[in-house]
Amino acid sequence: MANQEQPPLQIGLAGFGNVGAGVYKNLLKNRALLEKRLGRGLEVRRIAVRDLSKPRDVELPADLMTTDLDSLVEDDAIDIVVELIGGTDRAFDLVKAALERGKTVVTGNKALLAERGQELFAIADERKTPIYFEAAVAGGIPIIKTVQESLVGNHIEAVAGIINGTCNYILTRMTEAGLDYPEALAEAQQLGYAEADPTLDINGWDAAHKAIILASLSYGCWVPTDRVYVEGIEKITRRDIDFAQRFGYVVKLLAVIRLHPDSSAIELRVQPSLIPRGHILASVNGVFNAILIRGDVVGETLFYGSGAGQDPTSSSVISDLADAALWRNNCEGHTGFVPHGLYGKPLPIEESASKYYLRVEADDQPGVLAQIARVLGDHDIGILSVIQPEDHEPGSAPIVLMLDYASFGTIRAALAQLKALDCIREDPVLMRVESL
Ligand code: HSE
Repeated sequence: MANQEQPPLQIGLAGFGNVGAGVYKNLLKNRALLEKRLGRGLEVRRIAVRDLSKPRDVELPADLMTTDLDSLVEDDAIDIVVELIGGTDRAFDLVKAALERGKTVVTGNKALLAERGQELFAIADERKTPIYFEAAVAGGIPIIKTVQESLVGNHIEAVAGIINGTCNYILTRMTEAGLDYPEALAEAQQLGYAEADPTLDINGWDAAHKAIILASLSYGCWVPTDRVYVEGIEKITRRDIDFAQRFGYVVKLLAVIRLHPDSSAIELRVQPSLIPRGHILASVNGVFNAILIRGDVVGETLFYGSGAGQDPTSSSVISDLADAALWRNNCEGHTGFVPHGLYGKPLPIEESASKYYLRVEADDQPGVLAQIARVLGDHDIGILSVIQPEDHEPGSAPIVLMLDYASFGTIRAALAQLKALDCIREDPVLMRVESL
């Protein structure tokens, strides 16, 4: 039962798109449960949208709606501002102003936090006012609080995540149904998984923003966006997926965050990567997300669930509202960003090492394989196995190699030399092989 002495907390909701509507709908649906659990009601007082006339699936009283974003901040009765408008400019101004007025902030905006989180958390810290952001990473998977709270007794050694559902859906369909990339992308768009403009999903930056947030929580420092190595899935072909399968791997867009203990450097990258078929992450398919975290005390843990969608993402926003309610009741607990370690600096990508998948299209002539092997040998890169299928187009032959551990800098230098060989017909395809 709600605490009679405590009036319901008043929420100002900025944005009523898919997630905003889900938050409103599910707050109403589970109102009694939340009141019982929190000892206090949660009430949406005002909803700011761009366009009042836009048709909406979720019914709501017209008197809650406004186009005036500032009114959420200016209304002293509003305790919590929920920012779901996206983007980094208006959203930044809104969150900053809300914090400065002493309001608690809940946001699901990964780009905002990855790009300007350092500034916002400094304001939150100064004002002793929390920012909660569970919905910013992996939709409905409660990964933020897991790292902040449940794993607080660990040094985080590594994080590996499939954290973009759109890319995972596309790669899954290419693998399982043999679709080409454009077909799989069109299907993802038709089903509403990919945005009409899916650029940030497929170019890897949606996952990179999430990875920056996870790295900040794991290591207590903000990695600037220009120090993150990001490759998308745009160039992945069915052919490479097929070859990877022949070697016993599946292709996933993988975010890797890893501490190098000797140098205290943080490796942070998002790339299409080969994962052994038998590894548990290889079976994370469709729009699902999964995040594997290795801590020095807990060992390996894995978190799986819906990384996007109205209900899963609103579940995370509502969990933040619950935290905000508890915080406002007691004015204690974490204030959003908890730096565990302040370990330090980003690792230059050239120094990160892994095994690799390499496909080159070369002239179908004697001696070509020897030329390729020589370049790799000159760079001290070991060849683990090679396939040259017989059923190729006449004249040009695909040569697919699995390469042993080498630094990214070394492999790039070798690639540059390979590209310059007369016998190489097109840009080689390189992907990481993760042993996890
Ligand atoms: N567009 C994202 C995805 C969800 O496909 O996973 C929101 O970050």
